[in-house]
Amino acid sequence: MIRRELLIAAAFSVVSSAAFAQDTVKIGLILPMTGQQASTGKQIDAAVKLYQARNGTTVAGKKVEVILKDDTGVPDVAKRLAQELVVNDKVAVLAGFGLTPIALAVAPIATQAKVPEVVMAAGTSSITEASPFVVRTSFTLAQSAVPMAEWAVKNGIKKVVTLVTEFGPGLDAEKSFSDKFKADGGTIVENLKVPLRSPDFSPVLQKAADIKPDALFVFVPSGQGAQFVKQFVERGLDKSGIKLIATGDVTDDDQLNGMGDVVIGVINTHNYSANHNSAANKAYVEAFKKANGGLRPNFMSVGGYDGMHMIYEALKKTGGSTDGEKLVAAMKGMAWESPRGPISIDPETRDIIQNIYVRKVDKVDGELYNVEFATIPNVKDPVKAAKK
Ligand code: PHB
Repeated sequence: MIRRELLIAAAFSVVSSAAFAQDTVKIGLILPMTGQQASTGKQIDAAVKLYQARNGTTVAGKKVEVILKDDTGVPDVAKRLAQELVVNDKVAVLAGFGLTPIALAVAPIATQAKVPEVVMAAGTSSITEASPFVVRTSFTLAQSAVPMAEWAVKNGIKKVVTLVTEFGPGLDAEKSFSDKFKADGGTIVENLKVPLRSPDFSPVLQKAADIKPDALFVFVPSGQGAQFVKQFVERGLDKSGIKLIATGDVTDDDQLNGMGDVVIGVINTHNYSANHNSAANKAYVEAFKKANGGLRPNFMSVGGYDGMHMIYEALKKTGGSTDGEKLVAAMKGMAWESPRGPISIDPETRDIIQNIYVRKVDKVDGELYNVEFATIPNVKDPVKAAKK
């Protein structure tokens, strides 16, 4: 090649890579793909892939590229990954966040870089207040715990022991449940806690068995329900007459079918069941299972799926602009039908508004499911609602 041609070729490659950069929207997806919370990472990663398989990888004329990073469930790792994604990869959106401490650790980076932080999993109420760039598509624990307390009082339960994992969402669940239960006339006899890492439920279960309340209210994070139930049975609590009530994190679809018939009849409250009766959910469950070797989608997966939907629709609204403030503005007030039912983003708090369902574990076609039997529509996060 002569010199002039070389120069033209070089100029062309610069132009085309700049055009490529401009035409690609990158999403940094930070998830626990290994470690104790790996099931959350697996569910959300699968849901994000499914969303793109069903809706394409181009939106508003831009190619959407998802960069998946494994935070191993450790906040400091997530923080470093978020920094690298913003500085080196120039991502337009940070998304994922399987645990509250991880969502909180990344919030200052979102604020500083003016990049939306789409929280697809973590559920502590305060997360949306950690940055004006946080928008949540998952849930808050108070959303589930308050209706559970209401149901308990209405159904003759008078004395309750609570048992939660000792970190943000567990403390929110304990407080929201206890405050509402007491306000409605119930008595909380004891608030028991277990650590997040490698919990042993035996000592606290023994304590609950000794107290003999009408019911034991439980929150453990997604992925720990099966172990909890195993120890519940080993300690003989299934035969103690103490009713087990819970947030749906305990009877998580990811593990429910393996828990055994002992969980049949457990009443719990949550935002999503794989058994939810809608055309949108039936199609979602079928497509998810087909793409993932029969794996049943859980509530974490819909947080991921809806998070992707929100990003795609926001990009449509901004005409493909990746300006962080414009994207967050586009997300505020957005409403759509999720596999879980109708949902929207509260324009004031950037938190999700969704139905909470009261469910009973039962056998359907030979498999265990959370079968919804009552709906509390359009629930806003009660913790933030109470502050106003
Ligand atoms: C959280 O870390 O906020 C979290 C994790 C798992 C859950 C719920 C909340 O099931």
